[in-house]
Amino acid sequence: MTSLRPQVVAHRGASDREPEHTLAAYLQAIEAGADALECDIRLTADGHLVCVHDRTVNRTSNGTGIVSTLELAQLEGLDWGSWKKLSQEHGDYGTEVPDVVDTSDRSHLLTLRKLFSVVADLDRPVQIAVETKHPTRYGGLVERKLARLLQEFGWDRHTPEKPSPVRMMSFSALAVRRMHALAPTLPLVYLVERRMPVAMIDGQVPAGVAIAPDVEMLALNPRFGERIRARGRELHVWTVDTPEQIRVCLDAGASVLITNKPAETRKTLASM
Ligand code: G3P
Ligand code: CA
Repeated sequence: MTSLRPQVVAHRGASDREPEHTLAAYLQAIEAGADALECDIRLTADGHLVCVHDRTVNRTSNGTGIVSTLELAQLEGLDWGSWKKLSQEHGDYGTEVPDVVDTSDRSHLLTLRKLFSVVADLDRPVQIAVETKHPTRYGGLVERKLARLLQEFGWDRHTPEKPSPVRMMSFSALAVRRMHALAPTLPLVYLVERRMPVAMIDGQVPAGVAIAPDVEMLALNPRFGERIRARGRELHVWTVDTPEQIRVCLDAGASVLITNKPAETRKTLASM
């Protein structure tokens, strides 16, 4: 993934403008030219993978309760859009919307399967960075379900001839190792939010796994990126929303910027 311009990854979609994790947010990100879409996944009570960040539905829907205690039908009955006004200005997603998308769905809950279907139908390649939540609670069930879904789409193997559009990310080294065992060639990312010696990182996740610090940590430890890259690992950074933060990432040699503002980030990168 080494390139002159870092990849722009839309964090929960274009979540600065549209309700996070909704089709509206992802279509906006695609329209903005994002290279990839970031998505957090949780397990429902009846075993479906859904695109939700928080443990509960309280902040981002009109319901209450814990995601993993609710069934898919219950979650689908909630309104995931009205907590944050849908952008009127950006309601037209142009010609890039694939046939699979019913745009009246744009404030509904997204399953990971639906997001994969949308991306599979696009006329340009867009990647997906899937962050598994519940790192330990289900003993690897989320990763096993993700691996099965990847197999269904033919995306579980990553080769130079046929790269997988999906990478898996986690704050849990155990979850990263589990995913590596299930899909040894799949690109993986270990998320870190506190300073960690690079030698310790080497002991926690396999060689080749990218490392993703948060931008504030990187700004305080500007040589962290250099040390990570010296171990043959890519540097991905989250959540990068301002020109100053973009500068920190470029100076550190980041190959991926995860941002709530894909349009603005692309524009700023183009001007640097
Ligand atoms: O992309 C990494 C970032 O999403 C991790 O933090 O809490 O937004 O999932 P969080
Ligand atoms: Ca995330």
